[in-house]
Amino acid sequence: MKELIKQAAEDLAAARNVVALTGAGISIESGIPPFRGKGGLWERFDPMEIAHIDTLMRDPAKVWKILVKEMKEIVDRARPNDGHKGLAKLEARDKLQTIITQNIDGLHQAAGNTDVIEFHGTFAWQRCMDCNKKYETRKVDISEIPPRCECGGILRPDAVFFGEIIPPEAMRRSRQAATDCDLMLVIGTSAVVQPAAMIPVIAKDNGAKIVEINPERTPLTDQISDYLIMGKAGEVMNRIVSDLQKII
Ligand code: OAD
Repeated sequence: MKELIKQAAEDLAAARNVVALTGAGISIESGIPPFRGKGGLWERFDPMEIAHIDTLMRDPAKVWKILVKEMKEIVDRARPNDGHKGLAKLEARDKLQTIITQNIDGLHQAAGNTDVIEFHGTFAWQRCMDCNKKYETRKVDISEIPPRCECGGILRPDAVFFGEIIPPEAMRRSRQAATDCDLMLVIGTSAVVQPAAMIPVIAKDNGAKIVEINPERTPLTDQISDYLIMGKAGEVMNRIVSDLQKII
């Protein structure tokens, strides 16, 4: 791993435009469970049922009780870990332009990154299913479920459910960022959910180097990634930043 960490630091030092694509794996060390794999949310629930827009429309109280309330409690408590902080340090050294994240937990912004594209929306806000008025999640009273807007409509997370499209501006900006970068860090994503999994492919097609950080192999590993640093995001980012500091 030592050689690959050094390689990543050198690649970062040489890069002009770096973009990171992140997934649930980067937030595990902050206490947020992933979706797939051991301890993942989708071991307990069927995402096509509980995280599908049709279920939310048909039975919002069920989605709130089973999924949203628990996520609110977990996300409210979570703080950035060394993985998020490492990316913030890269931005501070002008070695990271943009983060495209599939996460809805807001931890990249909390760590200090300023250009974060929330590909699957955000959990920081709820919006009314009738009038679209937005409410900050941490201020929403959930003593009654589902919580309601002042107009009487039901509130839902401002996040993307299965069966919904990616917010068009997030889609447009992500494609652009992937096209323009010359190095993409792909951290903590299983890369099985589309269209997010296409982002590294777009970057690769446009000549970028792809560096994956993940304790497991993914569908990108053999086909798209230049190399995989097998490890946890927090530890790997700490070591990359430390090596980078010796070079620049
Ligand atoms: P997944 O839960 O599918 O994958 C998490 C990834 O993190 C796996 O590849 C793990 O090997 C890796 N991992 C585990 N521990 C790690 C650590 N400490 N550091 C780094 N990586 C680690 O999460 P996503 O790929 O983000 O979408 O899932 C994509 C989408 O599927 C989510 O945004 C969500 C979900 O259904 C929607 O809900 C629309």
